[in-house]
Amino acid sequence: MKRLLNSAAALLAAAAIVSTSASAADTSFLIDCNNDKCFNTADITAMSDFLLNNGSEAKDITGDGVVNVFDLVALKQYASNYNDKMPSGLWFSGTDKEDMVFFWFNNANGSVTTAQNGNRITLLTSELKDGVLRSTADTGETSASNLMWVDDTHIDLYIDVEDTVRRLTYCGDTQDNCEDDLSGSYFTSGSYGERYFNIDGRCGNFRHYQNPQFADYCYTINGDTITFCYADGTVKKAGFQRTDRDHFSVTWDDGVTEKFTRRKFTKEDGLTYVNGILIANKSYPLPSDYGPGELTAETQLAFNEMKSAAAGDGVMLWVCSGFRSYATQSSLYNSYVARDGKAAADAYSARPGYTEHQTGLAADLNYADNRILSTPAAKWIEENCWKYGFILRYPKGKENKTGYSYEPWHVRYLGKENAKLVHDSGLCLEEYLGIDSVYR
Ligand code: DAL
Ligand code: ZN
Repeated sequence: MKRLLNSAAALLAAAAIVSTSASAADTSFLIDCNNDKCFNTADITAMSDFLLNNGSEAKDITGDGVVNVFDLVALKQYASNYNDKMPSGLWFSGTDKEDMVFFWFNNANGSVTTAQNGNRITLLTSELKDGVLRSTADTGETSASNLMWVDDTHIDLYIDVEDTVRRLTYCGDTQDNCEDDLSGSYFTSGSYGERYFNIDGRCGNFRHYQNPQFADYCYTINGDTITFCYADGTVKKAGFQRTDRDHFSVTWDDGVTEKFTRRKFTKEDGLTYVNGILIANKSYPLPSDYGPGELTAETQLAFNEMKSAAAGDGVMLWVCSGFRSYATQSSLYNSYVARDGKAAADAYSARPGYTEHQTGLAADLNYADNRILSTPAAKWIEENCWKYGFILRYPKGKENKTGYSYEPWHVRYLGKENAKLVHDSGLCLEEYLGIDSVYR
């Protein structure tokens, strides 16, 4: 594998791979009688020659302090299990995210990838025989590399003759082609607090919101099991379930299931979208000249449908405040500041440029104050608005997430699909999307 893995070696060296030097305790060195960084029939020949006083290269395989025929027997036994022992699956090495190297060995093919730059050499064919891995890459290069078996889950791959060795750990036994659809940034909000899960190909890390520590790992998915191989050598298995392209859940061995949701920010003409949802809150303002001038057509249609349904239940709904321009919000907010002071106003009113009303996707229904609570409308809205594509945007108990006090009258149009997802999650929009709402 010399030339091919020489290119791989250059790739890996560029990623500053930390080589693992095999120690004297390694099986690989014990069975490598002639010290050629490879275990094959030449080692058995060397041992036989030694016992026949025809050679000087031998190893104490049995560890009993002497080299004798039992060592030759042990070596031959090892040889009978050795060839092609390396199972198909994901192998990796590395000490942190940047350094991780993945190697797929899948009977007749594989690939070498660095996590850092995603460069990949695909091995079109690879064959393991007598401790030598012979490969042809998609670049047309062919090469051979010595491979030494260390134990059940580790191999040393000698990239070139200069002792450049990668110790690879076995991670999984089937190749799941999910790396492309899992790649991305996910967040979860649950028993462990807010955690982020970033996946780059087959590599990823966790970040805890309050305790921003990264845990680097590579992962592989075999059916309903996800296996994490951490850079320190820890291997952890957990349950895995993918709901759709943007959601998956992991069930840890303590029984806790964490649901991960993809989080994708896009910025267009000064507007911030998270997973396609336009955001207007204390963290994500709108350009001052932005605004449809009225409720968007879709929002108005959805409101009409909701209004009819409510009427069928004997509940009257009307829009008391729909679209508000930057200028309108400005005079509203300033009047509140003049009346109650800035701190108090900020708890219930958005500053100009920060109100969701400027999107044309939000509406205050009936009374924009607590009078609504003494009417059947408040309960009806809370229980039913999601069916028509709206969410109650500032729910009770979520004040520190939304940044605003409870508003039983303020609904936000998301479309039926998203409104149902947010409603069913029991989370406010900020929690659901893993974002905050804080003036900076
Ligand atoms: N009352 C809401 C937060 C607004 O001013 O948009
Ligand atoms: Zn409102």
